[in-house]
Amino acid sequence: MLNGKHILLGITGGIAAYKCAALARLLVKKGAEVKVVMTPIARQFVTPLTMATVTKNPIVVDFFDPENGAWNSHVSLGMWADLYLIAPATANSIGKMAHGVADNLLLTSYLSAKCPVFIAPAMDLDMYAHPTTTRNLETLKADGVHIVEPESGFLASGLEGKGRMAEPETIAEAVDAFFEEKQDLAGKTVVITAGPTYEKLDPVRFIGNYSSGKMGFAIAEECAKRGAKVKLIAGPVSVKAVHENIERIDVESALEMRDAAVRLANDADIIVLSAAVADYRPATMADHKIKREKTGAMTIELVPNPDIAAELGKMKKDGQLIFGFALETNDEQFNATGKCERKNFDFIVLNSLNDKNAGFRYDTNKVTIIDRDGSITPYDLKSKVLVAKDIIDYTIKKLNK
Ligand code: PMT
Repeated sequence: MLNGKHILLGITGGIAAYKCAALARLLVKKGAEVKVVMTPIARQFVTPLTMATVTKNPIVVDFFDPENGAWNSHVSLGMWADLYLIAPATANSIGKMAHGVADNLLLTSYLSAKCPVFIAPAMDLDMYAHPTTTRNLETLKADGVHIVEPESGFLASGLEGKGRMAEPETIAEAVDAFFEEKQDLAGKTVVITAGPTYEKLDPVRFIGNYSSGKMGFAIAEECAKRGAKVKLIAGPVSVKAVHENIERIDVESALEMRDAAVRLANDADIIVLSAAVADYRPATMADHKIKREKTGAMTIELVPNPDIAAELGKMKKDGQLIFGFALETNDEQFNATGKCERKNFDFIVLNSLNDKNAGFRYDTNKVTIIDRDGSITPYDLKSKVLVAKDIIDYTIKKLNK
């Protein structure tokens, strides 16, 4: 299933575009959120109104809205997507993609997309058989683009042969199969901390941080999909856990998070510490709202919170795998390596606030895995869903070593 996946559907100007309403509907039915970008000519074949109605999202065609000048950012479309599907992909658009021509929003989105790209070619049989098209498709394949082969049959020209866009069901299946749920964590229990902690000052105020929980929740969903029983200890966040294998334990403060983590750690095969835990809390919590003083500064005394990761690192059982995160602003690798050793992690996932669109709150992240064996594995900027997939692939390899 495509539950929660972000699919960017690119529609180019070919007669097969009329099938895109059915295709988008199938993707939505499988649980995906679909946004559509069209080339200007594609509007002649299927209307933006139809696509907007099916996907419940506005359609983008131009670089900016001519009515109010609002900018349609190809970069943010590419960042949003977990997968970019271009269907139908005409010979013209395929040629442009193969040669880096970016003269419309669909193509600029292709060049800036960090996610996997699928295309479903559609054209007349002679265009499809032309050596130029073959060459262009080979180039795209070499660039990592997935091709949903066209089918043979009656074509709009009245001729019969290969070039007809694959049926919507076939394309949706290919996308679904790409995200297919491997069950390589079946029988494993994974404990995850996610989100911020709030440290109360008085009944209305707290010390906290910007963590949204998106990274930790994406890891929880990935582990659950792969068959693990997941215990997700969540600080105060608004993200939702969807998968039925996830048991969510809501906490607010670092002390509450620590108690839950210590209670659950013993049964865990894998422990993931992605929470942004407050290192300090107010020494006392006022039982009424603190009033503003007429003059002078206010001082709040802070006391250290327990280091949950270090505590679990000390309790670590044979065969248990523990990893955490480091969000750094300077001397990133040096600091992360130190944390990895001090907390007895098997590896640490470094994200840096110096990388654009990475870290707190974004839907995307850019991480580097620093392993206790000395290896360093950097990854590209991508959606947190795909970052979670990379991290869990890495974890599985490490478990099977
Ligand atoms: O939630 P998002 O908006 O998606 O953002 C994700 C994230 C940026 C919060 C996440 O990717 C991340 O980096 N989390 C760790 C944040 C951090 O700064 O950690 P740290 O350097 O303070 O701590 C290092 C490790 O020790 C972390 O695994 C942390 O969970 C753990 N720790 C820290 C302090 C403490 N008292 N207890 C802990 O367990």
